[in-house]
Amino acid sequence: MNVCMAHRGWSGKAPENSMTAIRLALAEPAIRGIEVDVQLSRDGVPVLIHDFTLGRTTNGTGLVKDHTLEQLRSLDAGSWYNPKFAGERIPTLEEALLAAKGRCTLNLELKATSEMYPGLAEKVLELLERHAMKDQVYITSFDHQLIRHVRSLDADVQTGLIVFGRPVMLLEQLQAAGANILAMEYTYLNQELVNTVIQEGFKVIAWTLDDPDAIRTVLSWHPDVQICTNHPDLMLEYL
Ligand code: G3P
Ligand code: CA
Repeated sequence: MNVCMAHRGWSGKAPENSMTAIRLALAEPAIRGIEVDVQLSRDGVPVLIHDFTLGRTTNGTGLVKDHTLEQLRSLDAGSWYNPKFAGERIPTLEEALLAAKGRCTLNLELKATSEMYPGLAEKVLELLERHAMKDQVYITSFDHQLIRHVRSLDADVQTGLIVFGRPVMLLEQLQAAGANILAMEYTYLNQELVNTVIQEGFKVIAWTLDDPDAIRTVLSWHPDVQICTNHPDLMLEYL
C-alpha cells in the first residue's frame, strides 16, 4: 500500500522535528509514517533536530553535540518558523516514540558523520527496547556503515540506506548493510528501479516530494512506494 510519510513531522504546517509537527501528522489517519532526524545531546540523550548546528531552527548557536539536554531544552525551536510557535522545544526521541506508539511508523534518520556520535545506534535501540517499539520504526541513515552497525546489534529492526544519487550495485549495497529499505532522493528514482528493488523484497521510500505532479507520477510507479513529503495534504486525496 502506498504510504504517506510526513517529512520532519508535518513540517509544511509547523516547525520541523517539533512535537507540534509530529502531533499534526499523528492526527491525520491517512499519514502512516513520520520521518524525524535524530542526534545526541552532549550527555548522550537522543533528540530530534536536523542540522548539526543550532542556528537555523533555534535561538541557540554552536553544535548540537556540545549542548546538554537541559541546555537544548531551554532553547526556542519554534519562533524561527513563525512567532506563534514561540516556546516550542527540541523534542527528545523518547517523547516522539511515546506519542507515536501504536499509531504510526516512525522513520528515525540517524544524523551522524563517522565519529560524531559514538553510541547513537545503541542508545536508539535501547529506547526502542524499553518501549517495546522495535517493530514500529525504520532506522535510516546516509551513514551506511552505521546502518550496518545497527544490523549487527539487532537482527530484526527494519533499516534503510538513504541515498542521494544513483550508485552502482545498489541491491548489493542494501544486502551488504543488512538493510530492508531504500530511501532515495526521488529525482534519482524511476519506475524500473522502484519495481526492481521492491521485487527483490525491499521497501522503497522516495524523498522529499512537495510537487503534486511529481507525487502523482511516483505513486503511479508502484502501489507500495512510500512517499516522504513536507506537505502530506498534497497527497492525501490520492490515497
Ligand atoms: O529521509 C530522507 C531525508 O530526510 C534526507 O534528507 O536532509 O531532509 O534529512 P534531509
Ligand atoms: Ca531527514
